[in-house]
Formats: sequence, structure tokens, C-alpha cells
Amino acid sequence: MRLGILTGGGDAPGLNAVIRAVVRAAMRTQGWPAVLGIPEGFKGLVEGLDPIELTPFTTRGLINRGGTILHTTNRANPFQYPVGEDQYADRSDEAIRRIEELGIDALVVLGGDGSLSIAHQLAAKGVRVMGTPKTIDNDIQGTELCFGHLTAVATATDALDRLHTTAESHHRIMVVELMGRYAGWIALRAGVAGAADAILIPEAPFEPERLCARIRERAERGASFSIVAVAEGAKPKGGDVSVLQPGEGVYQAQLGGIGHQVAGMLEGVTHLETRVTVLGHVQRGGGPVAQDRLLATQYGVAAVDALARGEHNRMVTFDGQRIGTIPLEQVAGGFRPVPQDHPLLESARQLGVILGE
Ligand code: F6P
Repeated sequence: MRLGILTGGGDAPGLNAVIRAVVRAAMRTQGWPAVLGIPEGFKGLVEGLDPIELTPFTTRGLINRGGTILHTTNRANPFQYPVGEDQYADRSDEAIRRIEELGIDALVVLGGDGSLSIAHQLAAKGVRVMGTPKTIDNDIQGTELCFGHLTAVATATDALDRLHTTAESHHRIMVVELMGRYAGWIALRAGVAGAADAILIPEAPFEPERLCARIRERAERGASFSIVAVAEGAKPKGGDVSVLQPGEGVYQAQLGGIGHQVAGMLEGVTHLETRVTVLGHVQRGGGPVAQDRLLATQYGVAAVDALARGEHNRMVTFDGQRIGTIPLEQVAGGFRPVPQDHPLLESARQLGVILGE
């Protein structure tokens, strides 16, 4: 079987580790020919860009490398392909023709919800696809963990550790805005691991007055500083998510600004000196932590195994114990928020962390 592989949407630590695993499992275990790497995500198919021949030799040294050697874009949906300012066209037939031209029997798509939904639409038009769940946000339905997430959590935790230094020395409130889009997984996990005093996530809209009062109470009780971890998708009760740039067509809005909003509010009410850090793309950067390398490797191998068993139009998953696969129709268009009864939320509550509830 000739495999094609592409990376779609934002980069995430572990993409290269999946590519490496797919290539090795396909060629060494299955004896399939060299895998064709499609450059620039789905754009590479629509625009007919030259594929890159991937072998165990050319994928050496990739397990710890950040980004994606295939490059990526989040503005190349073949079904709503940008063809001019605010103009889109369905170019999916061109993408499918290119897959046929290259002699690709199955396409492995490393992507988040957007890319996996595209994969599902291509499958409906007859393409054999296998998805692997990639996103630092960890918000893909059907899997406990997406590769890239735990690296982002580690980076955000390190940032929180470092922010403690200035917070403590200057008796300040330090607000850190973390990524995650509409899910609070990064803020919750890094917030707990990095000992944040308040954690604001989209799943639990906060009451501004209550947040300010509780931070002030901390100060009155003698806490000389406070660390507030805010997910970029967090919002006040009854309010809206803070957006830097609105979405366009099928393309997502760019979130951001809530960190500054929260800081302004806290400083205004508590009169405690407050600073903001927007951690941004540092969370997506660098090589994957060991857990992400392991997950990425297992996902890559599982994708090839599943294709070899004759499965397609599915995504590989991890249920907390085992790697498996589920139909892409259970994934496409879905979303996985932090559930209200998640054990980590409960632990945070019991530690006395200020949550927006
Ligand atoms: O989905 C991953 C992510 O990093 C989100 O956490 C963030 O909101 C978004 O992508 C940023 O996208 P971009 O790199 O296009 O600005």
C-alpha cells in the first residue's frame, strides 16, 4: 500500500515523531513502499506541490524535533479554498485527482478537528484516510490525549514556575494567558502543576466581582502575591470570549485579550500591582516531552496497523489505557471540553484554588 501523509492546521510538538513512526511501521513492518509526504497540508494536494519521499533514512533524528518537516497551514480547506479576498471555492476534486495521480492508496492526516473534518469529507468522496489527533488544546472528541498537549502543559507549567519569582519578589499579581482555544485543558493542567492561585477556564465562566474579592481576601490574609492562569477562551459570566480577529468562513477566530482584561479588573479593584504574560506560541514550540514522543510513536504505529487491517475513515485514539480507533464521523465537528466533574477540577477545588464557579 502506498501511503501519503500530511500535517494540517497549527503545528504541535510530536508531528515529526508521528511521521517517523508511520514511515518506519509502513516500510519496515508492512513492507510497503516509501511514504509520500505532502508539503503544506491540504494546500500541497490542491496546488499539486511536489511530494517528499519519506524513508526510515530520511526520517532519522525526528523523534525530538518540534514543528513539522512537511510544513503546514490552517488556511487550505479544499472544500472552502481561499481563491481571493473573502472568496472561497470547492477545490476538493483537484485534491482527489492529485491523490490518484500520486498513486496514494491511503492518506494519513495528522490534524486537529478542522483537518480531521476535511479528512472525513474526503473519505465521503472515496479517499481512504486515517487520522491522528494533534493539538496542544486537547479538545478533540473521542480521545483522552492529543499529542502535543502534554508538551504545551509542561511549557506553561515552567512559565508559571518562573513567574512565581517576580510575583514573590515584587508582591504582584501575575496573570498568565494560556492557549487552548475554547477548552481549558492547558490552563487547568498547567495551573494545578504550576500552583496557580486562580485558574479561569472557558468551561467555568467567572464572576468578576467574586474573583477580585477572593484575590483581595488572599492579600488580606497575608498572601503577598497571586498567580492567575487564564485560558484564552475564558470569559466572564454572561460575557463573551475575547477575540483579536474574528473568524472568516470556515476559518477560526483568533482568540486573545482576556489576560489583559482580567489584569485590568484585578488591579482596578484590588489596587495590587499587576502584570500580564501572554505565553502564546511558545506553548507550541520546541521538541515534544517524553510522554508526547511515546504517544506520537504509538499513534503512528497504530495508524499503519489499522490501515493494514483494512480500516479507514477512522482516527486513532487513546482512552487512558489503550490505543484504539474510532470512526471519523464521531470526531468531525465535535469538541471535548473539560467536564465539570473532571477529577483534576475536583482536586483544584479541594486545594482552594479560585475557579470561576
Ligand atoms: O489550536 C492550537 C492553537 O495554538 C490554539 O491554542 C490557539 O488559539 C490557536 O491555535 C492559534 O492559532 P494561530 O497559530 O493560527 O494564531
